Amino acid sequence: MDKNFYITTPIYYPSAKPHMGHAYSSIIADFFARFKRIDGFNVHFLTGTDEHGLKIQRAAEKSNIDTLKFCDEISQTFRDLSKILNLTNTDFIRTTEKRHKESVQYLWKELEKSGDIYLSKYSGWYSVSDEAFYNKDEIEEKNGVKFSIISKSQVEWMDEESFFFKLSKWEKPLLKFYEDNPNFIQPENRRNEVISFVKGGLKDLSISRKSFSWGIKVPNSDNHVIYVWLDALTNYISALNYPNLDDGLFKKFWPASIHLIGKDILRFHAVYWPAFLLAAKIELPKTVYGHGWILSGDEKMSKSKGNILDPLEIVNEYGLDPLRYYLIKEVSFGNDGNISQERLEDCINSDLANNYGNLCQRTVSFAIKNCDQKIPQKINFNDEDIKVLDEYTKNIDYIRSKIDEHNINHYIDFIVTALFTANKYFNDQEPWNKKDDQLRLNTIVYTTLEIIRKISFLLYPVIPETSLKALKIFDIVEKEINFSSISNHEFLKKGSKINSVGILFRKINKKND
Ligand code: ME8
Ligand code: MG
Repeated sequence: MDKNFYITTPIYYPSAKPHMGHAYSSIIADFFARFKRIDGFNVHFLTGTDEHGLKIQRAAEKSNIDTLKFCDEISQTFRDLSKILNLTNTDFIRTTEKRHKESVQYLWKELEKSGDIYLSKYSGWYSVSDEAFYNKDEIEEKNGVKFSIISKSQVEWMDEESFFFKLSKWEKPLLKFYEDNPNFIQPENRRNEVISFVKGGLKDLSISRKSFSWGIKVPNSDNHVIYVWLDALTNYISALNYPNLDDGLFKKFWPASIHLIGKDILRFHAVYWPAFLLAAKIELPKTVYGHGWILSGDEKMSKSKGNILDPLEIVNEYGLDPLRYYLIKEVSFGNDGNISQERLEDCINSDLANNYGNLCQRTVSFAIKNCDQKIPQKINFNDEDIKVLDEYTKNIDYIRSKIDEHNINHYIDFIVTALFTANKYFNDQEPWNKKDDQLRLNTIVYTTLEIIRKISFLLYPVIPETSLKALKIFDIVEKEINFSSISNHEFLKKGSKINSVGILFRKINKKND
């Protein structure tokens, strides 16, 4: 079985500092990376910044800063955000790095060799904000200004000599690939959109620009720079040192398990990127998942619309784990979602503070008082204990399959139900009324502690910092977290000391209460 897992986020434009949409993609990617890691996979997790093109050049000009210096500064804020969001990315790539430029130029030559590049002239509409070409039928006009119907961003006329990629040649092979690999584009509705777009006919793609210089030069034609999307998409393999195979990174991690992206950039990832790879005879990624947007009101949150939510503000006010929990649980994965402070506070109060925090605290304080501050040594499970514990054993394959189907919401639902069942078990068993039956009391405490251990393992990909804090009860450290062991009912070392746990989540006094 393939025990390597390679997940990527989009590489973000450092045209402005990161916002909640960027944080969302990165947190979801981190969730998958952490889960796979505790399930025994070697995980490579890549994120970074996409620094070339007219969009960035203009943003730098506007701030009157040297373009590379401008990128250095903003790219750093994305790197800082990775730390703040507690991401476990194993690499951070910048497209202005040497390793990346060399790789892009190599890929260009491969496309040239395969006969997929020719010189011609591009005349048409271009959106600098999306760095994308649009057909006539994709443009609308409002008050004399032209916009893309799809992204609502302004377009300008472009008319210049350009190299083209023979995208049209790949129409049929792409359709065949989608058919043979039904999981390549996810979710399902996005797959259908892409298929009908490709069936509508693919035109050759302009892949170089001559009218500005901020980009990677076309080999042997250095008055052209390479189209920023061809440049950017290559990051997924340049970070594996493509075409250099010596260090084994490419061999180990390519093809990527999943490119996690927002639905705004699906066409680039599900049409252009696989076409480039087919032309260069490189294997295609296994899955491209286009998630929904975090909305602000009804609109996509974005810099150009001025409706940005700052993830740092939320982290400062509520803490990181509540934000991670909220985004993973409350946004139906694959669909658009809103950030509602009201619902974030509800998550903290009910799921995190009441259900999880409280379960840990009451069980631990009870055990400290009644079991000599130790994990009970003598226990004897009855049917009721086995029944709650077996829920985990029975569902181990179910949980794995939900992850592999990218069904995050079912994963969280399992945890929420498990928390409810755990609290109910502890209440129903009434260990406080069993003080004359130490064996039974011990068994109830042991069972509940085992459940806390299991749930904390399951919560680790979601709220890693708090999960680790809770696992300190048992002196369990990060590298000991292992998904398979949630089916072991006697993982906790009998007779070892129990550490008290502080408040995991502070309840919010809701403004309307
Ligand atoms: O497109 N809701 O960079 P970008 C959810 N550089 N996710 C959002 C979002 C929102 N409101 N806004 C942004 C680019 N995102 C290119 C990518 S990849 C080879 C090159 C997330 O800075 C989402 O993942 O515009 C989206 O696809 C990505 O950020 C776009 O970031
Ligand atoms: Mg964008």
